[in-house]
Amino acid sequence: MKCLKCPGKAVIDLPRHNSAFCKACFTEFVHQQVARAIKSERMFSPQDRILVAVSGGKDSLALWQILLHMGYRADALYVDLGIPGYSATSRSKVEQFAEAVAGPQGAKLMVHTVTEQQGAGIQDLANFIHRPTCSACGTIKRYQFNRAAVENKYDVMATGHNLDDEAARLLGNVLNWQQEYLDKQGPSLPASVEGFAKKVKPLYRLSEREIAAYAVLHRIDYIVEECPMSKGAKMLLYKDVLNRLEIESPGTKQRFYWGFLEQQARTTPASSSMAEKDQAALHPCTTCGQPTTSEVCGYCKMMARATAKANSR
Ligand code: AMP
Ligand code: FES
Ligand code: ZN
Repeated sequence: MKCLKCPGKAVIDLPRHNSAFCKACFTEFVHQQVARAIKSERMFSPQDRILVAVSGGKDSLALWQILLHMGYRADALYVDLGIPGYSATSRSKVEQFAEAVAGPQGAKLMVHTVTEQQGAGIQDLANFIHRPTCSACGTIKRYQFNRAAVENKYDVMATGHNLDDEAARLLGNVLNWQQEYLDKQGPSLPASVEGFAKKVKPLYRLSEREIAAYAVLHRIDYIVEECPMSKGAKMLLYKDVLNRLEIESPGTKQRFYWGFLEQQARTTPASSSMAEKDQAALHPCTTCGQPTTSEVCGYCKMMARATAKANSR
């Protein structure tokens, strides 16, 4: 198989683009897709300080590397959730990457350790409040990502969500007609109110397979295993279904997700109208000050219940 752009030998085929690339041309393709995402969704500018949430997985480590390569000012945050047999491995992948690759380029890594700061690992916290681990985990991560970005005055917070993640999430939201989530699903969410950081997903134009290939070709040492808590999660089922459709009809994921974004841009012309709606409903949490629609935010409610349960044991 020959590279579509040069006489070199192709290392990857991309059925959805009807093409195949050698390592150099594929790398250029990946960088172009990220650059296009940043530009078309007005994610950030070269002056902005970016905080990348890195999990130790291929997507977020690749994202950090690509942004640094492109000359952006990108630091990272890792949230150590205290998952036995998993967090220690993912943390060491992140720390090694930070020391060997990102550090020499002037980037720094922050680590938030849940067992130290919240008094227990994610599994215990979730058990205390009878919530599925994944949902408690999502609440903690979202909260800590935002807190770290706002407190350390980053202009924007970036995650490694890719095309597969976003298409699977869209499928779930459509199947359950979760209009509120559909309204807010997008690769660039503005900092709607004071206390909420702007959030972006610069990898939304690249598939999981493409990012995995990029990580392997660039020798990024990432954690291959999925979180042990995520087994059987609905998201994996949606991804599987979309992968089967993609094999039969290449480009399905991108048509589905990018098509949704185009529709969204047409029907909700001003993201400011959403910001205004949000602004009206939000006020500072009486416990932590982060914006919320109720008196106490979801995170503080969860932590209060978990602490009460832990103390009563
Ligand atoms: P996931 O929800 O595990 O698919 O992760 C989606 C994105 O969230 C990743 O690409 C990272 O940017 C971020 N992320 C997930 N877990 C962590 C973590 N423990 N620490 C920091 N960032 C994370
Ligand atoms: Fe949160 Fe697995 S990463 S439960
Ligand atoms: Zn709060």
